This record gives sequence, C-alpha cells and structure tokens, in this order.
Amino acid sequence: MIWLYYSDEIIEDVRSRNDIVDVIGSYVNLKHKGNSYSACCPFHHEKTPSFHVSREKQMYHCFGCGVGGNVYTFIMEHENMTFPEAVEVLAERAGITLPEKNMTGDEKKRADERTKIKDMNKLAAGYFHYLLKTDHGKTALAYLKKRGLTDETITNFGLGYSDKYSDDLYKYLRSKGYSDDEMVKAGLIRIDEKHGPSDRFWNRVMYPIVDPNNRVIGFGGRVMGDGTPKYINSQDTPVFDKSRNLYGLNLAKKSKRKGIIFCEGYMDVISMHQAGFDNAVASLGTALTVGQVNLIKRYTDRVYLAYDSDEAGTKAAIRALSIMREFEMPARVISLKPYKDPDELIQAEGTTEFEKRIDEAKSGVMFEIEILEHNYNQNDPQERTEFQKEAAKCLARILDPLERDNYIEAVSGRYGIDKKILKETVTAYGISAENMIDKSVFREQVRRTTPEEEKEKQHLKSERVLITWLINDNMLIPAVKEHLEPSDFGDHLYADVLNSVYEQYDSSGKVEPAVIMNHYQSKEEHDKVSSIMQQDFGVEVDADEKQQVVTDLIRRIKRKSIQRKIEEAGSDFELIKQLMQQKKSIERIQIRI
Ligand code: GTP
Ligand code: MN
Repeated sequence: MIWLYYSDEIIEDVRSRNDIVDVIGSYVNLKHKGNSYSACCPFHHEKTPSFHVSREKQMYHCFGCGVGGNVYTFIMEHENMTFPEAVEVLAERAGITLPEKNMTGDEKKRADERTKIKDMNKLAAGYFHYLLKTDHGKTALAYLKKRGLTDETITNFGLGYSDKYSDDLYKYLRSKGYSDDEMVKAGLIRIDEKHGPSDRFWNRVMYPIVDPNNRVIGFGGRVMGDGTPKYINSQDTPVFDKSRNLYGLNLAKKSKRKGIIFCEGYMDVISMHQAGFDNAVASLGTALTVGQVNLIKRYTDRVYLAYDSDEAGTKAAIRALSIMREFEMPARVISLKPYKDPDELIQAEGTTEFEKRIDEAKSGVMFEIEILEHNYNQNDPQERTEFQKEAAKCLARILDPLERDNYIEAVSGRYGIDKKILKETVTAYGISAENMIDKSVFREQVRRTTPEEEKEKQHLKSERVLITWLINDNMLIPAVKEHLEPSDFGDHLYADVLNSVYEQYDSSGKVEPAVIMNHYQSKEEHDKVSSIMQQDFGVEVDADEKQQVVTDLIRRIKRKSIQRKIEEAGSDFELIKQLMQQKKSIERIQIRI
C-alpha cells in the first residue's frame, strides 16, 4: 500500500500527463537555460534564483531552502493540499476522470460528509450573496456601502445577507435535497425540541470564510448596527477548524506585498484589501493560535501585527508576539493610534498613511519594552531598575547577536541607560535558564557535530552521491548492482531509493525519478529524495574517470556496510570470520562500463 485512495497506475498516469515545467510554469516565472528551468524560489524569499525544475527528470529542487519533489509535491506544498487533493487537481487539469476512491466504509462516510458540508457551504454562500443583491438585502447592502465597501470588494469577498426569516436558508437547503441532520453537521441549522429547525444566521451581513483552496468552510455573520452579539461565527465542523485557518488567506497568499499582516477583525481585512494591502489576514474570532502561525509559515517569513490599539488589542499583540517568537518568526507591530483599528485608520487617513505606518512598524521587542515602560513608575529608582531589568530580559531573547546589539543601542539611547551596563545585564540574562529553554530549538540547530557524527555524515554522502550518479547515468546500474545491495546502505531512505532504482531499471531499462518520488509521502522525504535526484555535477567526466569514481564509492559503502555487520555480529565468530574475508575482497572490486 502506498496511497490510500488511488492505485499506483492512476497516480502515475496523472503524474505523467502533467508536465512539471508546464505546471510549475503556471505559478512561477521560469527562465529556460539548457536542460533546466530556474526561478526565484516560491517557498522562500530570495533575490537570485536557486529553484530548479528539470523537464527530463520531472522534478524540482531548491538549492537555497532544500525543498523539492515531483509535480505532486509542488501542488501539495504550493496549494497547501493533501496528496489525494493534489491528484484530483492534476487529474482535472489533464482531463482524466478518476475512479471512485478506494476507501474503507468509515473513511468513505467521513469523506462524503466533508464533501456534503463543503457543497452546502458553497450553496449557502451563493444564496447569501444573491440575497444581498435583491430587495431583501437592501438594508444590508446599504450598510456595507456605508462602511465604504465597493461592489468589487463585496464580490471579491463574496459578502452576503441572511434573510430576516429564521428558516430561510433551511428551506433553501431542503429544496436542494439536504437532510436536517446534514444541515446541523454543517453548522448552518439548529434544531430546538420545541420550535424545530432554525437558521444559525439570520438578518445578518454574511462573511464567508474561505480556505486557501478556495472552499467555503464557515461563516461570520454581523448584525447591522449595534445589536448583540455583534458577530456570530460558525462552530467548528469537520471542515472548519478555527485554530488552523485564517480569514483572507485565500487572497493574501497571492499577494505580491512583503509579509503578512495579522489583524483582529473581518472588517479590517476587507478594508485593508480594498486599500491595496491585500496581504492582510485575521484570526476567526479567537486569539491567534500556534496552528495559525504554523500555517502562515508556508507563505511568508515576516509578519506585521495590526491589532486594535485598545488594551485588549495590546494584550492580544503581546501574546501573538510570544507565539511568533516560538516559531522564530520576526514580527513587527504597526501603530494605529489614535485610531482603534486598521479599518478606522484607513477610512480616516487613507492608503498613504497606512503605508507609512507599515514602514514605521516597530520590531516586536521594542513594542514589548514600550508597553513595559508604562507598568513602572520611571521616577522611582527602584521601579526604574526593575523596568530596566525586564527590558534587558526582552533584549536577551533576540538570538541574532548583531540585531541584539542594535537594539541594545536603541534602548540605551531611548531610556538613557548606560550601554555597557545594559549590555552586561543582557548577557547575564542571556545565560539564564529561562532563556536557554526559549532558545532550545535554536541550540539544537547550532550544536556542533561530534567527529563520529561528522564521519557518519561523510559516509551518507557517498550513498547520496552514488544514487545521483545512477540517476544521471542509468548505464551504471547493472555494474553497481553486481556489488551493492540496498541493505548495504546505512540510510534507510537512500536504501529504499536504491531499491526502487534497481526495480525500475530491471522492469523498463531506465529510471524515472519522478515515479520514485510517488512512493514517498512526507515533506521531509520529498525534500531529501529530490535533493539527491536533482543534483547535477556540472562536470563532464570521461568513461575512465567515471569508472574510478563509482568504483571508489562502491568500495567505501561496502566497507562501511561490512563494518556495521561486524559490530552487530556480537560473538558470532564464524560470521565475523566470513565478514573479514569479504572485507578483504572489497579492494578487488572494479566496475567496467
Ligand atoms: P466591525 O465592528 O464591523 O468593524 O467589525 P470588526 O471586524 O472590526 O470586529 P471587532 O474588531 O469588534 O472584532 C474582531 C473580531 O472578533 C471580529 O471580526 C470577530 O471575528 C470577533 N468578534 C467580535 N465580536 C464578536 C462577538 O460578539 N462574538 C463572536 N463570536 N466573535 C466576535
Ligand atoms: Mn472594526
């Protein structure tokens, strides 16, 4: 079993009918050079292109950030889709009709339920939008217009109106054949024992919540005017998880602007987009979650916070900053004062002013220190000392030494603290336990490797390089196969790839890297496998040299493999004797091509 839903044949058929250069070329601007196509990587920010696509291998790889894979990987990563979803999209693109998914009864039930809910949501969103344009929606439309929204914005966000009868949507969905039970599961209907079914949303302006794959997953509904509750949001359903989605991300992910702006309200997102800041998103009526930051990491490496300027907004910003820190995501805070939120600022001052506020956004650390400042009486020496210590703690969290030094300078200037003393204090906090825990992820990355680990890494390099040779020159395969088995490899994934290389060669006489890629599911595997397949040594070697290099690689791998077997043999002396024998014969290995 490789994939749960579709057979290997179908997966391969769909893949082979979607040329990777055409598919990726429709997302990024590929430059053609020789056999390879390159571009600035869509998965990380860079100025010189290190993202390469090969038509021959039907693979892509970024030498800058290490991502890579075949056409499926690309769609999964770029569109934030699951594998079966990527198969569906590419099948449709190639005009292939997919067979029914192979699922167990339970899986099928759940998948059908999710599809039904998405269909119902789509119908409901269409219906609300339609109502907004009719006589029934007159007041709602006037309300949105009064708030400054254009027809274009209303259409882009699919805004709508839920009618003032409490069973209007219910009747509509019934007429489309949905059952009470299904509507309840979708969170669109409530059933009361006494009063029977009623709509969750009525007489409200409707904001559909759309996921990055452009599917309606839920709704927010606002009263027109001052009633309470101001907003009603969909509850979580099988397709709607508030903690892992963001309002506006479907549009923001296509933005050309730098970074993503997080704000608090739906209306703020809409207002910012209308003003051209189409990189704005909002959480869904809850505080920012770890899942949301995780999600955003796929799209950007820089975040702006445009939270309300009141006390609640400031608290929410501080909390959001601490989550950003956990993810080592640099965050800047946009000051909206004297306005309450981005919407008000834009309505009052316009685009240029907001652009200026973005430019002037402060780093999260400075923002936190300024907030701290107000908690202490700066005229009282003791309180002032405490404030300075707290500020030093904030500064100690900045991991980059240069950046930290710049901020130490800024804080020392602004608050009149001696720079040398501040620096010493920061350094002292830098080694405190609390900060160390904060930095544990970072330390893991910078930890020095031991000499043994270094050797092991060198060794894996031989395995990787050998596979690259085999993929670039299939004629080498039979000669190598004579001497090496996949189990000679120390790395399980590389061993698995070698096995596939042998199998493919045996059955078809050639190797198609993108087909091998179909065997792997995780992003880590795709990145690792694509990095070995996409390598191009960039040097022309003659047959003699090739023979020598490959022979040398085989010997190294074999030596290490036997060494491992000897270590595992324990006190089985007979086996050890045999292995020692084999070890001697390694030096006699010589391939001919
Ligand atoms: P406007 O008041 O129309 O400008 O909307 P806003 O989007 O600016 O709302 P606000 O800043 O008051 O609130 C921010 C977000 O919190 C909203 O977009 C909602 O997601 C959520 N929210 C606000 N009020 C309520 C409420 O009464 N109930 C629920 N569940 N969520 C709310
Ligand atoms: Mn508002």
